Amino acid sequence: MSQDGKMRDDLQCVLYTSEQIQEAVASMGERITKDYAGKSPVMICILKGASLFFCDLIRHIDLPVRCEFVILSSYQDGVSTTGRVRIVQDTDCDVTGKDVLIVEDIVDTGFTLHTFSKMLAIRNAASIKIVTLLDKPHRRKVDLKSDYVCFEVPDAFVVGYGLDYADKYRNLPMVGVLDPKIYEPA
Ligand code: IMP
Repeated sequence: MSQDGKMRDDLQCVLYTSEQIQEAVASMGERITKDYAGKSPVMICILKGASLFFCDLIRHIDLPVRCEFVILSSYQDGVSTTGRVRIVQDTDCDVTGKDVLIVEDIVDTGFTLHTFSKMLAIRNAASIKIVTLLDKPHRRKVDLKSDYVCFEVPDAFVVGYGLDYADKYRNLPMVGVLDPKIYEPA
């Protein structure tokens, strides 16, 4: 991080401002409210990355949702996936017969949610949809479609609004491309 501690200076560019994010999140919440009218979906937040998005999104959904939180792991302080997905903390909610919305910060290769949605299908969820703030569809390595996407992003490592690099930058209010100088060896 830059010496004077300004996290914003570590961004190569800003992709989405806080205002643009809030606008997109509000309209996604309205869309989900319409699509799930009369239902009580279970919303599962994938910690830690989706935490900010999840908390903003649920306040724009006018339905009696149940909120659940899981921790999945496939990255280890780096910028590329290992392809192996581990449940670090599971939900104890019985999803049998329930409409489930998985809320993620970003879908990249798709490994994480492909694995997790298969687990929920085995637990007999009635329906499973994927809600993501960001999507990198060109990086997909498995057959996985995001159902609700706020923004598509280019093939670059992005941080902010919940997304991290080595557990930093989550509290940036905008989403931007992290300067490769931060993670590439000099
Ligand atoms: P996937 O399994 O490759 O789809 O990866 C999903 C997870 O990788 C996300 O939940 C993020 O934690 C992480 N990830 C992928 N791309 C980025 C990025 O550009 N910035 C920060 N985290 C990322």
